[in-house]
Amino acid sequence: MVLSVKEILAQSLKAAFPDFSDPFPLRFFSAPGRINLIGEHVDYAGGTVFPAAIDFRVFLAVRKNGREDFRIYSQDFQSELITNSLAYSETKTWANYILGVISEARKKGLSVQGFDLAFTGNIPQGAGLSSSAAVEVGTAFALSQIFSWGISREEIALLSQSAENHFVGVNCGIMDQFVIATAKPSSCISLDTESLEYSYHSLDLPGFEFYLIDSKVKHNLKESEYNDRRREVESATEKLRKFDPGLKNLNEADPENLNSVGLTETEKKRAEHILGERSRVRNVIRYLKEKDPVGLGKELYLCHQSLAEKFQVSCEETDFIVNNLHARNVLGARMIGGGFGGCILVLDKEGRSESVFSELQKEYLRTFGLEAKIYRFRISEGVREDT
Ligand code: GLA
Repeated sequence: MVLSVKEILAQSLKAAFPDFSDPFPLRFFSAPGRINLIGEHVDYAGGTVFPAAIDFRVFLAVRKNGREDFRIYSQDFQSELITNSLAYSETKTWANYILGVISEARKKGLSVQGFDLAFTGNIPQGAGLSSSAAVEVGTAFALSQIFSWGISREEIALLSQSAENHFVGVNCGIMDQFVIATAKPSSCISLDTESLEYSYHSLDLPGFEFYLIDSKVKHNLKESEYNDRRREVESATEKLRKFDPGLKNLNEADPENLNSVGLTETEKKRAEHILGERSRVRNVIRYLKEKDPVGLGKELYLCHQSLAEKFQVSCEETDFIVNNLHARNVLGARMIGGGFGGCILVLDKEGRSESVFSELQKEYLRTFGLEAKIYRFRISEGVREDT
């Protein structure tokens, strides 16, 4: 008999916390991973991002437990945590995404009493597909339902981002949590990360397909240079602001000023990426509307080049994959997410992926000793209750 995810999570909760007989009903929720078509590393510089949710998800089973403590079980790590303290866990780091949400919710005056939660998922971890943001948003959404917080999906995204920023310690922007909270099937979201205004755009290119290649280089944003990039963007913005006091963010800077405000070489490169991305986002949205996959693909390569050379968040392995795809006349490819490894998003004519990938995989294995993986996906919906 094949058990459903719900049955597996319910059984695990019963086994981990045997006094399962009390009257609180168990409810099920799930939250997706995400891709981002364009607008990378601009969500903490006021830029526009263009992400979508994918059909890889985190699944959660949650109920009130009528106790003081939180009892959390990770199916994937086969590990549990029973606690009523909201201290960062150095040993069970998987629990911090959940503890962080509780801690930030309480700071905002939202009521969180004792609960039991078990979770599992099929979003590859450390692959740049936002598995951790999915746990945060899934938890925030589930708790908002069982404790009747009455907050919007946008507020759930902001709460989850605070958990990542203030509890987990990665100073991420709003993109991942926002798309996971608000996504719709078949659509990308164009999100202005300054105003948080957003709109949905259908991702429909008949005869063409997107897929992902996992470089299998695991990134860990906490230890990576992610927070450094954010500081560099902030210091460049400060210098530009001295010259242009009304400047809200780096995305709005005038390119003409980059040479005259005393930016370091590094700050200048970071700013050039942000401003380059500003026009690439516009172009991609236009190409999508005009159904021009060739134009769109070129922008993906340009974005990768800028992330590698100007923003310096790529690595040898992901560069190798992107260059290899380019040499095989694949329409477009680029690293996505935080970088330093993870996945590459590929756009090509339908039906070519099998042969392109198998050749690439061999060369990649020979060069780096790593087994790249291909993931096909569908654009999916945001966090939801699975009834
Ligand atoms: C990570 C962060 C996001 C965003 C991307 C890069 O996924 O969590 O906020 O900055 O990197 O675009």
